[in-house]
Amino acid sequence: MTDKYAVFGYPIKHSKSPRIHALFAEQTKQALTYTAEEVPAESFEITAKAFFQNGGKGLNCTVPLKELAFKFADHLSERARFAKAVNTLILQNDGSVLGDNTDGIGLVTDLTGNHQIGLANKRLLILGAGGATRGIVSPLMAQHPVEIVIANRTVDKAINLAEEFRELGDNIHGCGFSDLENQQFDLILNATSASLSNDLPPLPKGILAPNGCCYDLAYGNEPTAFVKWGLENGAAKSLDGLGMLVEQAAEAFYLWRGVRPKTQPVIELLNSERK
Ligand code: ATR
Repeated sequence: MTDKYAVFGYPIKHSKSPRIHALFAEQTKQALTYTAEEVPAESFEITAKAFFQNGGKGLNCTVPLKELAFKFADHLSERARFAKAVNTLILQNDGSVLGDNTDGIGLVTDLTGNHQIGLANKRLLILGAGGATRGIVSPLMAQHPVEIVIANRTVDKAINLAEEFRELGDNIHGCGFSDLENQQFDLILNATSASLSNDLPPLPKGILAPNGCCYDLAYGNEPTAFVKWGLENGAAKSLDGLGMLVEQAAEAFYLWRGVRPKTQPVIELLNSERK
């Protein structure tokens, strides 16, 4: 039987993951199927259990299932433990299921590998303190930035989230948007869901350091509101999250198959389709 993989989410119709994994499988000559399944939170556990019992080898989990996948996993990678969220489940030889989170490493690979944006000794600002932020903090800290500031509309959430990651280093702080006056950052990452409604967190003028970059974890066919803000505010690069999407998928593919697909041709193909 051909090895079976899937992405579970709700909604899932517009997911690019089946396409990305089909391209990876073709490129690396791996025989597998990868489907997208609409799974509401209430039926996640039973559906995931059935998937693995019926020969499934691995799952991706997306909104709103990442916290449930975290609870479902029998074991966790360290980065998933910090994220308290799992986007990749991997069936182990002994029948147990390992939970991992490839979102943060996907982001880091896109920034440092694809776009040559170094993170060491840089000042990083993350906008938002929800699930998307949780998923990226530990891989970002591993790159040794000089500081990570998490700014959020609900200030307590930013302060509490920063506190959770203090174990990894004392160079992480939480604050509100109004505390950002007179500060400068080399990289601003938008991890709020504001983009989806074409909205923007309020950012003071001059917050982007000379040669600073912007990165929106969200992506769309058109530039997001935050990508536009970056371009208008002198960012050396202002990018959206399409590269991160492909890179997190490549990392999941590697965990499942032990083979690393080339991501550049897939990113180029997906990019060409939105122009
Ligand atoms: P996700 O899993 O995508 O991170 P989430 O956990 O619901 O989703 O978090 C959404 C984040 O976007 C939060 O940080 C939220 O701010 P609050 O914690 O104050 O709610 C932020 N957000 C959503 N809409 C926003 C807006 N219009 N302006 C600023 N921040 C916004």
